[in-house]
Amino acid sequence: MSQEELLKVEGLSVTYYGPPDVEAVHHASFDIKRGEIFGLAGESGCGKTTLIAALTRLLPDNGAVTAGSIAFAGADWLHMTPPEVDAWRWQKISLVSQSAMNSLNPVISVGDQIVDAILAHRPNTPKREAWERAEALLRMVEVDPKHVHSFAHELSGGMRQRVMIAMALALEPDLVVMDEPTTALDVVVQAQIIHQVRSLQERLGFSVIFVTHDMSLLLSIADRMAIMYAGEIVELGSRERLNRHAAHPYTRGLIDSFPSVFEKKSRVGIPGAPPSMVTPPPGCRFHLRCPERLSVCDVAVPEERVLDSGGHRVRCHLYSVDALRQGSHD
Ligand SMILES: Nc1ncnc2c1ncn2[C@@H]1O[C@H](COP(=O)(O)OP(=O)(O)O)[C@@H](O)[C@H]1O
Ligand SMILES: [Mg+2]
Repeated sequence: MSQEELLKVEGLSVTYYGPPDVEAVHHASFDIKRGEIFGLAGESGCGKTTLIAALTRLLPDNGAVTAGSIAFAGADWLHMTPPEVDAWRWQKISLVSQSAMNSLNPVISVGDQIVDAILAHRPNTPKREAWERAEALLRMVEVDPKHVHSFAHELSGGMRQRVMIAMALALEPDLVVMDEPTTALDVVVQAQIIHQVRSLQERLGFSVIFVTHDMSLLLSIADRMAIMYAGEIVELGSRERLNRHAAHPYTRGLIDSFPSVFEKKSRVGIPGAPPSMVTPPPGCRFHLRCPERLSVCDVAVPEERVLDSGGHRVRCHLYSVDALRQGSHD
């Protein structure tokens, strides 16, 4: 894996204006290397889709980046004009969204939709070549190329999702962002699609941001991953580190909530629910649900600690010597 940086996010905060105003992402920092699968996990409502929307410059009108920066392929991505962003969309960055399965146009054939996307960005492509490319893309995601003539309703959910992945790859982007791309599918189809993404990624070399609430999935496919809780990245590290040394009690809770495919025993979830994002709790945002809470956790915001030379980092008082000295378990 090349270590060249493709995307660098620093101190990113995003607010939705209400009332009430909601700060859905708070000071997020991470980078994406070329050719890696980067996972983003966390319970529903923790800000994953918001972070992705900021990264893809697709925030809704009531949402805005209030702090931070995004460097993408060497450019100041947040300050690029809408026409510049449009020119990069599909060619450098593409999104397979949470509702992708339902975002195929029902009255236009699959092939026409792929061809339209190709011609919109590369208008000099001969039409015949664009159709051949559409067929090749379907073959690449293991959908019979005869389905260029099919309409969305003629395809299964899994096939529709494969078609969306084919479209996302149509213009050979550097970064493909997938927001819970398989959550709506049954587990067998999920596994097939995820293995396919992995093998395409290894063959074509693009980077992937893969968003899910399913930790066991990330622990099997991601090179590195970030864990979000209540708008913040609370832990970030390599798959190896998180498999063996998950540090944040929230990460460990998430891992324990999802059985691996080889396990029969049922798992305990994390008791309680994520806090309101309108008024996040003081101190550590996780302290109300944390099985390892210290008294300091109620009042002091934990600083981020780096745990190894590979950039494994965690935002938790358990890793701060001072806090451990002062605090005692409640
Ligand atoms: N368009 C919006 N307007 C206002 N609040 C929103 C909007 N979209 C999401 N939110 C809020 O932002 C927070 C994070 O949501 P989201 O990014 O969708 O989380 P996730 O993808 O992790 O489930 C939630 O509190 C959600 O209610
Ligand atoms: Mg989401």
